[in-house]
Amino acid sequence: MPNASAAKQAAGTAAADLVESGMTLGLGTGSTTACALEALGTRIQNDGLDIVGVPTSFAAERLANQHDIPLTTLDDVPRLDLALDGADEVDPEGRLIKGRGAAHTREKVVAHAAERFVVLIDPSKPVDELGHAFPLPIEIVPMALGPVQRLIEQLGGHPELRMGAAKDGPVISDQGLWIVDAHLDGITDPEALNRTLNDQPGILDHGLFLDLATDILCGEANGSVTHTV
Ligand code: A5P
Repeated sequence: MPNASAAKQAAGTAAADLVESGMTLGLGTGSTTACALEALGTRIQNDGLDIVGVPTSFAAERLANQHDIPLTTLDDVPRLDLALDGADEVDPEGRLIKGRGAAHTREKVVAHAAERFVVLIDPSKPVDELGHAFPLPIEIVPMALGPVQRLIEQLGGHPELRMGAAKDGPVISDQGLWIVDAHLDGITDPEALNRTLNDQPGILDHGLFLDLATDILCGEANGSVTHTV
């Protein structure tokens, strides 16, 4: 992906431009949303933008603090005006795979609480069918690893327990749980897979986001942004 960071920057800046004073925001996780949080911080500092955000991860919380974005929780703000977040894959119907950064469980809670869920991507993210370029992340209770692995194999996939790059052993999510990446070689029926995974005990949540995205902002390396709704 040539010059992906300029594309992400363009998407992030366009997302921050959608925000108005008084809004409650969902603050997503990942490198593209990080561009939006930086742009929001600039608007807070320069224009006195008055917002409050709910972070979707420890990483988002730390970034928000760095950019002086005031934080709250869904206990205090039951509905959000706008949630901003990235995605790993987006299909033509606006269905997503998320969770490369293991934050998809909180990201889905926040997206579901938002009136608008604005997805920020670069041109590497649109796909014809989900599940080819990225595996599907599934957050599990550790003792359910065996049953979840067998379920994925029954579905024709290959399960892989996500291991830490900077630690020995499994990646531990912000909830203290484990991530299984399901390599499925394409997801022909995302709705059916969503139901199957939602019915499986021991799965906290997975990275399929269906019927949630209201806006897709795709930044280009030349700084332009395509906005689809
Ligand atoms: C975090 O777990 C993910 O859902 C990210 O939102 C997703 O991977 C997009 O990240 P980038 O914007 O870094 O590609």
